[in-house]
Amino acid sequence: MIGPAHRNARYRKLLALWSAHPIWASIMQETSSKTVSVTFDRLGLSSVCKVAAALANALNLGDCVVLAGPLAAGKTTFVQALARALGETDPITSPTFTLAHFYSRGRLPLLHVDAYRLENVHDFTDLALDDFYDTHVTAIEWGEKFSSALPPAYRVELTPDGDKTRRLTLSAPGEEYIGLNSVVGVLQG
Ligand SMILES: Nc1ncnc2c1ncn2[C@@H]1O[C@H](COP(=O)(O)OP(=O)(O)O)[C@@H](O)[C@H]1O
Ligand SMILES: [Mg+2]
Repeated sequence: MIGPAHRNARYRKLLALWSAHPIWASIMQETSSKTVSVTFDRLGLSSVCKVAAALANALNLGDCVVLAGPLAAGKTTFVQALARALGETDPITSPTFTLAHFYSRGRLPLLHVDAYRLENVHDFTDLALDDFYDTHVTAIEWGEKFSSALPPAYRVELTPDGDKTRRLTLSAPGEEYIGLNSVVGVLQG
């Protein structure tokens, strides 16, 4: 079993690898005691979907992914690609009006939430979604509004930075090892 100290050592190794590789010159890394982040600039739609698929491959039951970014940034699109990579075969539709959708055909069950229309943390906790966190991967658009009510989460921030391109920052909670090197690697090919 890999303990936190070993994980921290692996982070440091990964970060050294990132900075050594030419393609990663454009990738900003941030570390703190709590998170590890990687930022990609000017990703086209297919690259965003590749990052989503790579993250999906690293997810485990009980993991939570918060998606941030303005309207039409690509949050739902990212979750669609993530769900496909988990093996989900049902159509993934936006839960903006229905708040939460459940999917169960993939490698891991997926709970897809859109918190855009929820005004305060009580509206959010009233949904009692926490009953499902342990038994699903939870992907929650606009989830940063209610991060105090969520378990430690991966964070995906999407921001338009050109015609049909996005700046994407992916952060992992510090005690998790998600193989961010494989996420970076998928963009090399
Ligand atoms: N590089 C890109 N990454 C993600 N989405 C993109 C990109 N380029 C164009 N798009 C389009 O932007 C739209 C994003 O919509 P959506 O995923 O519903 O956004 P959100 O859920 O953030 O409101 C989709 O039509 C998608 O095809
Ligand atoms: Mg959306």
